[in-house]
Amino acid sequence: NKSKQDAEKLAAAKEAVKFIKDNDVVGLGTGTTATFAIKELAKRMQEGLKIRAAASSIKTEELAISYGIPILKLETLNSIDISIDGADEFTTSLNLIKGGGGALFREKIIASLSKNAIIITDSSKKVSKLGAFTVPVEVIPLALQYVFNQIEKLHGQGILREKEGKKFLTDNGNYIVDVDFGLIDNPKELAFALNQIDGLLAHGLFIGLTSKVIMAKGDEILTFE
Ligand code: A5P
Repeated sequence: NKSKQDAEKLAAAKEAVKFIKDNDVVGLGTGTTATFAIKELAKRMQEGLKIRAAASSIKTEELAISYGIPILKLETLNSIDISIDGADEFTTSLNLIKGGGGALFREKIIASLSKNAIIITDSSKKVSKLGAFTVPVEVIPLALQYVFNQIEKLHGQGILREKEGKKFLTDNGNYIVDVDFGLIDNPKELAFALNQIDGLLAHGLFIGLTSKVIMAKGDEILTFE
């Protein structure tokens, strides 16, 4: 039920934004949940909070600019104080699947640069094992068939993502392949294997990149860290 989910997303976003302090460099995620956090952050800035931000996608950058949030160039940053992003799935061991919106590569760079990487979710995102949500992988176009072959060797079933009848393109001009690995017993091992594939720019398994997950469930806020 969408309105219940939206209420949970908003509650988690409000909680996370409390952790942002004056002068922080803030990493902004992508997706419907991250959007709630961006709006809450804009409210705090109207009340006087001063921050600068880095955006994980063109969409997020445009949204942030529309709220008057100053945006820094990611390539110039060697660390980010705090980031707030959503996830498609998470486990209580703080492993995630991300990339449902296709922004996984920049999201991963932001998470990797973040001293405090906060993930916010509604209660539908918590799973006991990752993998019911397919793992998005970003593929450099010329390597598409090669990457498909390698994914098959890892017993994954990939589908090239499309949007409105055309190949979906990321902000980086690459393709997304959504891969069904079934339920994933060892996400760390799979992440390592995917990292070895040339032409696969990034995958949606976020292992050891998260400081805490803030999940709202009804009126409750649950924190996993
Ligand atoms: C974007 O690429 C994703 O990683 C999002 O963070 C993820 O898909 C969650 O999106 P929602 O907040 O819209 O569910």
